[in-house]
Amino acid sequence: MIALVTGGNRGIGREVCRELAALGHTVLLTARSPEAAGAAVKEIGGDVVPLRLDVTSEEDVAAAAAAVAERYGRLDVLVNNAAITYDTWQSGASADLDVVREAAETNLYGPWRLIQELLPLLRESPHPRIVNVSSEAASLTNMGGGTPAYSVTKVALNALTRMLAAELRGDGVLVNAICPGWVATDMGGPGGRPVSAGAAGVVWAATLPDDGPTGGFFRDGRPLPW
Ligand SMILES: NC(=O)c1ccc[n+]([C@@H]2O[C@H](COP(=O)([O-])OP(=O)(O)OC[C@H]3O[C@@H](n4cnc5c(N)ncnc54)[C@H](OP(=O)(O)O)[C@@H]3O)[C@@H](O)[C@H]2O)c1
Repeated sequence: MIALVTGGNRGIGREVCRELAALGHTVLLTARSPEAAGAAVKEIGGDVVPLRLDVTSEEDVAAAAAAVAERYGRLDVLVNNAAITYDTWQSGASADLDVVREAAETNLYGPWRLIQELLPLLRESPHPRIVNVSSEAASLTNMGGGTPAYSVTKVALNALTRMLAAELRGDGVLVNAICPGWVATDMGGPGGRPVSAGAAGVVWAATLPDDGPTGGFFRDGRPLPW
């Protein structure tokens, strides 16, 4: 299996790369810094290939798709993990919309563009999977105040997940949104659970069987309310 993971140089993304490689898969560990991608690949070992990819860059996304097409001719798994701006300092009532817009470039348009570019290669896979790493902060059922840029962009990512799951169901592409839970990373801060616990649910969605769910929102393999 060939998997591409965004934001693979640290946090949950790096652990997802490590776990997928440990399962024997080929992993394209992508990062916006080539040095950071190279360092993470060295640490992880296995069949892990570094690739420079800033998800906000149209050129990078096109170049990544071209590289995958040339080297492998297909892609089995896309993990949209990269995200920014857990804006605990803001409220919706007074949010800086430039901050919201910037967050959307990475958290929404990045995954969206990447899916569009990689879809022809995913269609070449016998078992294509798209995993959008989301957050319970995007649950409308549980929506409260605060973290406006983060929450709204993840809500939109969840909507995209449902839309694409419906559109691609006939092609066998399983598309799901996964909350990793509160995880002790640079974004999550201290006190969260270990990265392995957060990554496990992402790896679960990346390796679903053909009769697995699509268009769902899950944490630890169990459904979350939208
Ligand atoms: N940690 C939690 O408690 C928690 C809870 C719920 C959901 N999540 C979700 O889990 C995912 C991973 O979070 P994390 O905690 O591992 O975050 P993190 O430690 O802050 O890591 C974020 C990763 O995203 C990358 N990134 C940011 N902007 C990028 C861009 N434009 N192009 C490519 N990569 C970019 C970062 O790369 P650089 O090193 O270059 O900055 C880094 O590798 C995110 O989608 C997050 O929303 C996390």
